[in-house]
Amino acid sequence: MKAIVISRLGGPEVLEIRDMAEPVASAGQTLVHVEAGGLNFADCMTASGGYPGTPKPPLIAGREFCGVRESDGQRVMGYTQWAAFAERVAAPSQLLWPVPLGWSTEEGAAFPVNYFTAYFAYWKSGLLTPAKKAPRVLIHAVAGGVGTAAVQIGKLLGVEMYGTSSSDDKLARTTALGLQQGINYKKSDYEEAIRDLTNGEGVDAVFEMLGGEHTNKSARCLRDFGRVIVYGSATGEKSLLDTRLLYAKGGSVHGLWLTYLSANRELMSEGWRQLALWTSRGHLRPVIGSVFPFEKAADAYRLLSEGKSFGKVILRIRE
Ligand SMILES: NC(=O)c1ccc[n+]([C@@H]2O[C@H](COP(=O)([O-])OP(=O)(O)OC[C@H]3O[C@@H](n4cnc5c(N)ncnc54)[C@H](OP(=O)(O)O)[C@@H]3O)[C@@H](O)[C@H]2O)c1
Repeated sequence: MKAIVISRLGGPEVLEIRDMAEPVASAGQTLVHVEAGGLNFADCMTASGGYPGTPKPPLIAGREFCGVRESDGQRVMGYTQWAAFAERVAAPSQLLWPVPLGWSTEEGAAFPVNYFTAYFAYWKSGLLTPAKKAPRVLIHAVAGGVGTAAVQIGKLLGVEMYGTSSSDDKLARTTALGLQQGINYKKSDYEEAIRDLTNGEGVDAVFEMLGGEHTNKSARCLRDFGRVIVYGSATGEKSLLDTRLLYAKGGSVHGLWLTYLSANRELMSEGWRQLALWTSRGHLRPVIGSVFPFEKAADAYRLLSEGKSFGKVILRIRE
């Protein structure tokens, strides 16, 4: 079968299309004919060697996909840790979900990582059942894959959303999805913007995936008892955290890693129950920014890692 292989550690240039052995499903796995893959920042990190838990190259890239379950022909979307960008994948059976009615294959491939991550960010923030009216959230990279999913969920929860991006165009497109306040961090400091926009009060939660100095800056955006949800380090820098910022306002920092949470069946079932309900009512729909053919995988990786993408980047595995 054809597969996108990370031939060695490095940038998008290390990706190669190779003929690989067909996968064999072991206990707890299901074989799926893959039609499309969803590209994640984690895929770029896996190629460059910065993602914990992935085997050494050569390995088949990709962690989420949409296709057809071989055993019964059901259209499914799924999540695994690698090997999704191939014509066939043996994926964990409990991490396959039916593609919602009327969704395209690309939409199915754009769902698992972004929507579960965004859902868990609200869960960790304590905002799935908010104690107060219109709680405030600051969402970094708001126009990205996880960001646009977080905006759709935040809208359903009645959250007042503030979001950062490098581009006015991306912010305008995200505002159309329900974001109330876009902050272009190339033009203004988001910490100051949050202070001004919230009358000096701050926000109840920050979804922080930048790392470096942004963990402290995000903590300074909190209001009393707020929470920073740390779930990435797109800057490539280790998070800096001055804990004095937390006890000043009774704040806290919570970690979120889907790789870890996805092993918790109860939590995933509860998440899917809620996401499927919203989806069946037509409230959630993945935002596809670009679709690349299999052969152009390196261009797709480049777009995402250079911060130029909007919404989700998709790879067509089969036509
Ligand atoms: N912990 C988890 O389980 C989990 C799960 C999913 C994703 N994540 C993390 O969430 C983040 C977003 O992931 P995603 O796949 O949805 O990607 P994405 O948001 O679609 O793309 C990344 C975006 O981040 C922004 N960005 C800011 N600084 C950047 C930098 N130094 N380099 C590249 N991009 C930068 C860019 O948007 P602007 O230019 O508009 O700022 C870029 O478009 C990543 O850090 C990823 O590792 C974590």
